[in-house]
Amino acid sequence: MPGKVTVVGAGFYGSTTAQRLAEYNIFDTVVLTDIVEGKPQGQALDLNQSRPIEGFETKVVGTNGYEETAGSDVVVITAGLPRKPGMSRMDLIEVNAKIVRQVSENIAKTSPDAVVVVVSNPLDEMTALAANVLGFPRSRVIGQAGMLDTARFTNFVAETLSVPVGSVKTLTLGSHGDTMVPVPSQCTVDGKPLSELLPAAKIEELVDRTRNGGAEVVALLKTGSAYYAPSAAAARMVKAIAEDSGTVMPVCAWVQGEFGISDVYLGVPAQVGAGGVKKVVELGLTDGELAALKTAAEAVRAKQADVASL
Ligand code: NAI
Ligand code: 2OP
Repeated sequence: MPGKVTVVGAGFYGSTTAQRLAEYNIFDTVVLTDIVEGKPQGQALDLNQSRPIEGFETKVVGTNGYEETAGSDVVVITAGLPRKPGMSRMDLIEVNAKIVRQVSENIAKTSPDAVVVVVSNPLDEMTALAANVLGFPRSRVIGQAGMLDTARFTNFVAETLSVPVGSVKTLTLGSHGDTMVPVPSQCTVDGKPLSELLPAAKIEELVDRTRNGGAEVVALLKTGSAYYAPSAAAARMVKAIAEDSGTVMPVCAWVQGEFGISDVYLGVPAQVGAGGVKKVVELGLTDGELAALKTAAEAVRAKQADVASL
């Protein structure tokens, strides 16, 4: 089991991810690194003081550099600006590209064998950029978006039908943006197709709310973006890697031929375990869902090519 996980960026996303990872109590060390002096150190001290209460032994280390992160088994990149109300994720591309590039250069030097989970926005483009700069096999560089978008869709369905979230299965693929592809054909409640439980117009409304799920939280918070559900999603991906669980999750993975799509980072179902993505899983999609996935692939492909120069 991997012993060391680094979280880069000690903002809302990074600090809550570090907390979740530490509370799993399966790692020796969780390292938090950020450019703001004192912030990761203070958070580490605070988190370590919660250990006797929560009952975990994992040590949290806070730092402003990369020395303490050296030899990490998994690295989560959360460094970067979040959205403000009215901004799209794409408005962050230039500033976050510089940050993700600098972070990736440091990780490549200090943790050359790590699996890297990217969360900085715009997600699909930042994952592609990190993979280019890191130079790791692409199976070792994954983006987090689908777990979050799927969780949002599941929550909306459960609330609409007043059923436990545990009885609902949903799926979203495609990009973490305008071309997100919720997949109603894969959605069930206690094994029954969602289409038998809700009218098509209601499903479309929930799909739309899912697509705008991040913006809805940003509009309410006014400063910053969501972090509880996002950090839960990233932490579960790290756990799957650490435990080599092979769990099939919707993640942003390098696609090479699956679904008839090639050479692009895209939200797809993938088996996640030691070494990152073990396999992209080709589910049966309806013709409409497959067409939407291909449209998403083309939309992000163009942007992913642009980030090479940022
Ligand atoms: P935040 O503003 O609370 O934290 C960002 C942190 O990054 C700050 O502490 C900042 O000092 C740090 N940072 C900036 N440059 C750095 C560098 N070069 N090295 C190390 N640290 C650096 O923002 P928050 O809420 O934590 O969000 C972080 C990122 O995650 C944003 O880009 C946001 O859009 C994205 N996000 C992605 C989601 C997804 O599903 N993929 C969901 C939610 C947020
Ligand atoms: C979210 O979906 C902003 O990407 C972030 O909450």
